Amino acid sequence: MPLTVLDHALAAQLLTRLRDITTPPEQFRPLTRALTQILIVEATRALPSRSIRVRTPLEETEGAEILGELVAVPILRAGLGMLDAVLELLPAANVGYLGLERDEQTAIATSYYAKLPPLEGKTALLLDPMLATGGSAAWATHALYAAGAAQVVLLCVVAAPEGVARLAESFPQLHIVAASLDRELNDRKYILPGLGDFGDRLFGTF
Ligand code: PRP
Ligand code: URA
Repeated sequence: MPLTVLDHALAAQLLTRLRDITTPPEQFRPLTRALTQILIVEATRALPSRSIRVRTPLEETEGAEILGELVAVPILRAGLGMLDAVLELLPAANVGYLGLERDEQTAIATSYYAKLPPLEGKTALLLDPMLATGGSAAWATHALYAAGAAQVVLLCVVAAPEGVARLAESFPQLHIVAASLDRELNDRKYILPGLGDFGDRLFGTF
């Protein structure tokens, strides 16, 4: 399973501000949107495209068009913070939603909502900023493949080695694009150094 970790000065600066405990939700939200745009650029780098002709004001030249339909699937809640960036760059994408919540004691995720558009043969961009134990992403990835997705790309802000290993074992075809591969999980299954609870910081539910 390919894991791509961004190597980019602007992405690193945006991530640093997201990690900062003093960054309030009103700044956290646009920072998430900006960093997600960079993740999307990386995640779509190798998508199949076809050449098309385009007329500039001066002459006709070669252009490109991405082949196939894309479906964006945020994992609620925190993945919602990444959705606007996808729809800005890929306005034709359809959107599905998967609601998952980790139990505070066990860190095991359970599903409370699912609504997916047709996925047969399509590429799904799975949006979840935190890949910790990998339980949430594994559940969601399974749901997307079961619904017929041809390819799944997981976009996350911070990934932990434990989550990456779990997904690699279960889904060798999955591509993960992350802004950072952090050190480890703590005993409450939070990512270190991480940035805390992404959903709480995004929505101000402290
Ligand atoms: C967080 C995060 C991921 C999940 C990652 O969601 O947004 O979905 O935890 O942890 P895992 O890899 O161990 O499954 P949470 O369950 O806290 O819900 P929220 O987005 O509603 O805050
Ligand atoms: N979910 C979060 O929001 N943060 C973590 O560090 C782990 C799971």
